[in-house]
Amino acid sequence: MSNMINERDICKDRGKGGRMRNSYPFLERPWFLVVALLGLIGGAFLISSWIRTSDGSLLCPMVGAKARVAENYEATSMQLKAILHYATSHIVPQQSLSEISVTLDVLKSLAHPCNFLVFGLGHDSLMWASFNPGGTTIFLEEDPKWVQTVLKDAPYLQAHTVQYRTQLRQSDSLLSSYRSEPDCLPSNAYLRGNHRCKLALDNLPDEVYDRVWDLIMIDAPRGYFPEAPGRMAAIFSAAVMARNRKGSGVTHVFLHDVDRKVEKTFAEEFLCRKFLVKGVGRLWHFEIPPASNKSHHSATRFC
Ligand SMILES: C[S@@+](CC[C@H](N)C(=O)[O-])C[C@H]1O[C@@H](n2cnc3c(N)ncnc32)[C@H](O)[C@@H]1O
Repeated sequence: MSNMINERDICKDRGKGGRMRNSYPFLERPWFLVVALLGLIGGAFLISSWIRTSDGSLLCPMVGAKARVAENYEATSMQLKAILHYATSHIVPQQSLSEISVTLDVLKSLAHPCNFLVFGLGHDSLMWASFNPGGTTIFLEEDPKWVQTVLKDAPYLQAHTVQYRTQLRQSDSLLSSYRSEPDCLPSNAYLRGNHRCKLALDNLPDEVYDRVWDLIMIDAPRGYFPEAPGRMAAIFSAAVMARNRKGSGVTHVFLHDVDRKVEKTFAEEFLCRKFLVKGVGRLWHFEIPPASNKSHHSATRFC
């Protein structure tokens, strides 16, 4: 038998100068066979333990990484409701994809559940709340009937009615006269119970005053006809909340419809160009440091 093998080898494999080589050297060296066998057993053991501990990531690292991400990520019931809602509704939020992405990117970058205050209740509300899983998202709405309508279908949203003391047609006089009211001045501006300053939202639920807001979205109240409340008080109050922020970090303020005169001028007066970090479409994004950071703020002017 061994002679037959050797003959076959001789026919197949001839070295230079006609010198014959043996193709199966391990047959002549039993130690080689033992080492190879041990290597095979060790390799099989290693591979099987990797597969058990890393979901096959050794065989397909990308699949393993994705599986781990999926494992840690569980959609909240609010997010599932949002998917169902937007998948079956033909009414979509008014902000564009690129505008919405500005806020979503900030929420993702903060990487923790946030306190998110949103002016207005609308077709975007379920989306904003779903973008902030585990966090607190509160909506402030001017129209009590609209609050009821929205909450009937989405009782899991947290919404409060706000009474505005302003009208859009007063915007010019409010801007030119607010400095003559001491309670409107940046050095001592406050909101809760500030009846003298008409720009201050003085009658909000305590939770809104007591919470430190990480993000404030101003996409309401309505400001497209003279009797509408306009966004003057929302912009002023967001500026005061950001200035009075307790602790570290900035307040991210997003303002929509900056193509309109009132939104633009009140933003430049209270939210400040120097704190504007991004403008996309009709959305401006401000990062406002607390007033305790004296290097960024003046005592006499908001900007
Ligand atoms: C200026 S709009 C902005 C809407 C929001 N960005 C959206 O995508 O739905 C916000 C205000 O419009 C009013 N509003 C929005 N949708 C409404 C509706 N379907 N019926 C009545 N009022 C509505 C509410 O007072 C709300 O605060």
